[in-house]
Parts: sequence; C-alpha cells; structure tokens
Amino acid sequence: MRIDIITVLPELMKSPFEASILKRAQEKGLVEVHFHNLRDYSTNKYKQVDDYQFGGGAGMVLMIEPIDKCISKLKAERDYDEVIYMTPDGETLNQKIANQLSLIGNIIILCGHYKGVDQRVRDTMITREISIGDYVLSGGELGAAVLCDSVIRLLPGVLNDETSALTDTFQDNLLAPPVYTRPRDYKGHTVPEILLSGDFPKIEQWREDRAMERTEQLRPDLLK
Ligand code: ADE
Repeated sequence: MRIDIITVLPELMKSPFEASILKRAQEKGLVEVHFHNLRDYSTNKYKQVDDYQFGGGAGMVLMIEPIDKCISKLKAERDYDEVIYMTPDGETLNQKIANQLSLIGNIIILCGHYKGVDQRVRDTMITREISIGDYVLSGGELGAAVLCDSVIRLLPGVLNDETSALTDTFQDNLLAPPVYTRPRDYKGHTVPEILLSGDFPKIEQWREDRAMERTEQLRPDLLK
C-alpha cells in the first residue's frame, strides 16, 4: 500500500509515522507514506494556496489550482483507488471503513484547512470524504494521522501475534473484554480466578461473556 498525504502542514503530521507500529510497517516495506506540501504547487510567488471566499464571509478557502496540480502529478505516476478528503462533514470513520481501506492499494489523502477547500475539488477530484468525529479540528492533518493508523495496523504482517487486530474492540461489533497482567494481587485487587485456571475453552467463554456484557452496558447501539 502507498499513501500520499497532501497538506499545508507536513511537519505537523510526520511524528506519528516515526514511532512504534507505523514506523515498523514502513521499515518492513508494507506501506509507503509520502507527504506533499501544497505550497510547493502554488502558482504564485508568495506560495499562496488559499484565498477569500466568493460572496464574502470569514475564513479562507484552499484554492483548486495547487490541489489539481498535486493530484494530477501523482495520478500521472500511478493509479489510485481512493482520493480521500478529511472533513468534519464526511462519513464518520469506524472499524468497517478502516477494514475496507486496508484492502486497497494506493490512497491519496487531502487535508482541509481554514474553511475547507473549493467545492469544485470535492465535486471533481474526491472519491470519499471522511470525518474522525463530530467536532471541528483546525485542519485535516490529525484526522489523516488517525485514519492512517487505523488502516496501517490492519495490513497483513504489520501486527504480530501479541498485537493481533482480531481481538480488538469493534471487530465483530463488540467491545474487547478486560485484560490483566502481573501481579495477581495488587493491594487486595485480584485477577479473576478463571484467567489463572489454565482451562482455555472456559477462559474463551468468559472473555466472550465479558465482551457481550460490556457492549450491552456501554455501547448497546453496536448490537442493533
Ligand atoms: N477537519 C476538521 N475537522 C475534522 C474532523 N472532525 N475530521 C476530519 N477532518 C477534519
């Protein structure tokens, strides 16, 4: 998989990709992540990429021309399966969307800023619009980093057995069961006896029951 991220703030975005699982995935050659500074595609000597909105009103709008130049250059080099725009009015990211995106090849992610992008970008270049939740961020960069993390960790070979995605919360629409590690007794708070029993079918049943119980209590909407 290859991910190309178009942003006015590449520096804001880089650090999550330079540590832990996202770093290892790139080192193993399972994903390539490239950042493109939209200002490099400005047609103007001040490297301007935004302008006032027609009709008046507060807030600047990212212009179509630099975005078109950047996306066209990328598309001339290879095929892309999705061109995603990060925006609070997109479809809300969930595990199902992350699973879907982890199965495709190349993705462009465009990060919005200020009031967003010229509507003609959305009408003609974008294939999918994604939000990371019902709140407004200063730009799409942090949302893009969240999206990439949720997708990259699902790529085959990224996680090892210890960090397997199969038992994650939200896979199967269930919250994950509680987990414990040493010590067995911490200031009188003990680990459930069953987990120390060595009876693996019973432990599995206990985990399923706890997952169902937690989901019913905390997120009954997932069971509908
Ligand atoms: N840009 C601004 N707010 C956003 C959000 N909630 N999700 C994705 N991109 C955004």
